[in-house]
Amino acid sequence: MKQQTIDQAKAVMIKNDRGYYTVPTHGLYPFQWNWDSALSALGFAHFDEARAWTELETLFAHQWTDGMVPHIIFHEMDDGYFPGPEVWATGKTVPTSGITQPPVAGFAALRIFERAKDKKLATEKARALLPRIHAWHKWFFANRDPHGTGLVAIIHPWESGRDNSVDWDEAFERIPTKGVSPFKRRDTNHANPDHRPTDEQYKRYIWLVQRFRSLDWDNTKLHDASPFQIVDPGFNAILIRACVDLAQLADKLGEKEIAAQSRAMASKGLAAMESLWSDEHCQYLCLDRAVGTLINSPSIGGLLAAFAPISKSRARLLAERISTLSKSCSYLVPSHPPSAPQFEPLRYWRGPVWLIVNYMIADGLLIAGETKMASRIKRDCLELINKSGFAEYYGPINGEPCGGGSFTWTAAMVIEILEAP
Ligand code: GLC
Repeated sequence: MKQQTIDQAKAVMIKNDRGYYTVPTHGLYPFQWNWDSALSALGFAHFDEARAWTELETLFAHQWTDGMVPHIIFHEMDDGYFPGPEVWATGKTVPTSGITQPPVAGFAALRIFERAKDKKLATEKARALLPRIHAWHKWFFANRDPHGTGLVAIIHPWESGRDNSVDWDEAFERIPTKGVSPFKRRDTNHANPDHRPTDEQYKRYIWLVQRFRSLDWDNTKLHDASPFQIVDPGFNAILIRACVDLAQLADKLGEKEIAAQSRAMASKGLAAMESLWSDEHCQYLCLDRAVGTLINSPSIGGLLAAFAPISKSRARLLAERISTLSKSCSYLVPSHPPSAPQFEPLRYWRGPVWLIVNYMIADGLLIAGETKMASRIKRDCLELINKSGFAEYYGPINGEPCGGGSFTWTAAMVIEILEAP
């Protein structure tokens, strides 16, 4: 049974492998996505270490000179996706989008390095990636934390990876829809429109893209010019964890300077995370930086904070919070609480369960000693794929498969959960 599931997961990954990068799924997402790639590399590492390193190498081959690693790399043209390279117009030889995504690469690089059987290859690859990943982390603090608070803001919902989360609703009201050039969505040709963001949300996504494009994608200007500046605890937790992990990798490779700088960024971030804690919700919340208030939306972003090395007492409280959520659904962890009025069980990030987020929450909880909840979350992941296949995401009440099918990172997470030592 276990081997059969692993073989099926491998087949999904191989099907989506384009040789030097992997598409998240055919049709809906025909290019390379940033955090999909880094998390998928973890899956590859179990059956082809060289291929795992290639996935990360390809991603960083398209890093911008300022240090940013873009969220999409358009390796081969495909008009089944909107917005394509002509909308972003970032002027790169191999076209890329102009925003970024959660920086999981530092975490993935350390994990693949530590488990590597081919140490020689791992050392060579990690040595080349190390300064690039570090440059990306520094880019975040320089460009997305201009006042040195220790926490970075996202300037577009797509950067969070949780595209249409309830967390953005209020801030999104400030974004105009006037002046958006007419466009035709393509995502709804590939997936059920009821499982996807709404047209209103799409207009605002594109308004932001147009705004940034009008500033020539100059990252020294974009943060302040964006009406959307959100400090997402999940995103920051990933960045903090990646800095901590990169410091460890740097130690192993004798790169003292990178190790010290990474630790400094991580500890400042970790201390600042406390400002996002809500006693009322028993979890972290997003901060709307443009208006300076916490957003009253207890979504999964605040639980993903468990991925950072937060204190054991905070991890305990997050595990309790997830335990409370388990009373209102069959599968953990819903991206929005089923008891909340905005909850939609099948619509993308407004309720459904995503295996990648589950994996990261479980990983953090395990390290913090919350083994029972970590195992429960992993068990739910396996139940979901056994019931509904390797879907993009799943309904937390009935476990329906949603979005795209044969999904790379879902498959990679299953291999990770079943094979990890
Ligand atoms: C969607 C998801 C995002 C992911 C991308 C490709 O936009 O919200 O997190 O990276 O699809 O799978």
